[in-house]
Amino acid sequence: MKILIIGDVYGKSGLKAIDLFLPELKAQYQPHLIIVNAENAANGRGITHTIYKTLMSHGIHMLTMGNHVFANKELETFIEDANIVRPINYLQAPGKGYLIIHFNQQKILVINALGQAFMNQHVQSPFLTVMETLNNVEHDISILDIHAEATSEKVALGHFLDGKIDIIFGTHTHVQTNDSRILPNGTFYLTDVGMTGPLNGVIGVKKDIVIDRFINGYSTPNAVDEGPIQLNAWFIDTLQKTHTLIHLEHDENK
Ligand SMILES: [Fe+2]
Ligand SMILES: [Fe+2]
Repeated sequence: MKILIIGDVYGKSGLKAIDLFLPELKAQYQPHLIIVNAENAANGRGITHTIYKTLMSHGIHMLTMGNHVFANKELETFIEDANIVRPINYLQAPGKGYLIIHFNQQKILVINALGQAFMNQHVQSPFLTVMETLNNVEHDISILDIHAEATSEKVALGHFLDGKIDIIFGTHTHVQTNDSRILPNGTFYLTDVGMTGPLNGVIGVKKDIVIDRFINGYSTPNAVDEGPIQLNAWFIDTLQKTHTLIHLEHDENK
């Protein structure tokens, strides 16, 4: 099975990158399944119904989320009927932490979980929650988006689940890591897919806002950066046992 995974779509620049690059990625890689992290799609925070419909019109099968999942309240009005998984390790939240995609008579389990390290959110252990889900939900292929800050937590989770899950990809840091690999017991693993949005901001936000924040220590509201865009993705072929990191850039002024 061929699976294309696209990292955190950030604001209008991210949606522009999807418009621009996804058709050519589909033509090149012919994925059976496309999974996209969309926690930052609406101006950096959450998702709206209009953006959900726009993304799905590209032939995306499932959206995963993260700590910004409910930053835009509109999601609560449509999440129950949407192909969207929110973090499974919230104690209680609208929507679901896992969903099944039916493909070629196979059940593909997609799970989203939050990390606990440096995340400012009190959630259940992703290790135990994801393991329990894998044990209790019938499936043929299993995929996890671990939305977490600490590389160590993600790597540890990778080894903890190695051989018990088919694919683990990380999101949230917005910076792609180059550790795409198959772990010793067969799990495809990547610490972070990277983001899809502005190229020259600070993880999506206009750079001056974040530089000021680090120098002065106070916070001004975020604004999504404009200008050149990037797309970061990961492609896996489970039969061929290949895995490819993808990084594309575009500057419309060049
Ligand atoms: Fe994000
Ligand atoms: Fe995040």
